[in-house]
Amino acid sequence: MRILVTGSAGFIGFHLARRLLRRGDEVVGIDAFTPYYDPALKEARHEILAQHKTFVAHRLRLENLDALRKIYAQGFDAVVHCAAQAGVRYSLEDPRAYIDANIVGTYNLLEAMRDSPPGHALLASTSSVYGANARVPFFETDRADHPLSLYAATKKATEEMAHAYAHLFAVPTTMLRFFTVYGPWGRPDMALFKFVKAILAGEPIDLYNYGKMRRDFTFIDDLVEAMLRLLPVVPGRPGARQAPVEGDSLSPQAPWRVVNIGAGKPTDLEDFVAAIEAALQRKAQRNPMPMQKGDVPATFANTDLLFRLTGYRPATPVGEGVPAFVAWYRHYFAP
Ligand SMILES: NC(=O)c1ccc[n+]([C@@H]2O[C@H](COP(=O)([O-])OP(=O)(O)OC[C@H]3O[C@@H](n4cnc5c(N)ncnc54)[C@H](O)[C@@H]3O)[C@@H](O)[C@H]2O)c1
Repeated sequence: MRILVTGSAGFIGFHLARRLLRRGDEVVGIDAFTPYYDPALKEARHEILAQHKTFVAHRLRLENLDALRKIYAQGFDAVVHCAAQAGVRYSLEDPRAYIDANIVGTYNLLEAMRDSPPGHALLASTSSVYGANARVPFFETDRADHPLSLYAATKKATEEMAHAYAHLFAVPTTMLRFFTVYGPWGRPDMALFKFVKAILAGEPIDLYNYGKMRRDFTFIDDLVEAMLRLLPVVPGRPGARQAPVEGDSLSPQAPWRVVNIGAGKPTDLEDFVAAIEAALQRKAQRNPMPMQKGDVPATFANTDLLFRLTGYRPATPVGEGVPAFVAWYRHYFAP
């Protein structure tokens, strides 16, 4: 297959692209190497992808519609959209970055696809769209109308924009709601990376909501496996003959559905920290902090729909995933 991966120098886009290349697919990657975190990490990821002859890289912002159209014109079996301005907390500091990358960037991608849709478009969304929904686990069919951060609001907007394009221009679309993804080559702004760095430096770690947080931590390899399995699960047009799937989020108006990809098993932040301490063989100094604006106390994915569509559920426990990250971190930052 020939697949367009946006955000190919990012944490998730890189892992996905690497798996696709290893299995023999052609991957065209787009990334702007934005300075939200150290672009050197993005360069290092792309260097690994560049070892494959079937990888082609384009360095550009999705806001550049003309350039995007030219790349898209070669035609793709699938498009996987991982480029975004991510992060809940930073959306209070620089909200404009979210409008530009997530709203305008996604709009441009949809525009590029509209005249000649790919076989399947898969767009990254987030568990943050569930806001502070009290009922857990979160089902795809739950209301997700009360975003608590601009990050969540822009991601929810991309879901709705993609629905309109799926309806108007028959772009078969799957929205992927990711739940706190972690693992090797992970993001420096996320808890695991920050905690490992601080503990190794003998510095305290900030535990928001005084540590009373639960996250459905999802190991990167599990996430990529789920994405690969969803690639051929193309949402059909409404009315097309297909067996109904229980609990499906398939739109009655468009070839569009939304699927949670999470561990389906929330971990207490305290247990996550304990797994890091065990992997590092060091004790963390804890700095309890109040809840951060825009954050939610718990996330918990129901993964039945993913399982019904693909026969797969993420299963890697943090006791395995955290040491894998620590091994990578030690190797990557080895003096
Ligand atoms: N990592 C998680 O836990 C998590 C959870 C939920 C959702 N997501 C979503 O998954 C996707 C991938 O996240 P990630 O963790 O790999 O983040 P990341 O920041 O590592 O990757 C995003 C990549 O997109 C690129 N990018 C940003 N704006 C761009 C633009 N305007 N044009 C072109 N490239 C641009 C960045 O340079 C970066 O390499 C994002 O859509 C994110 O919102 C991630």
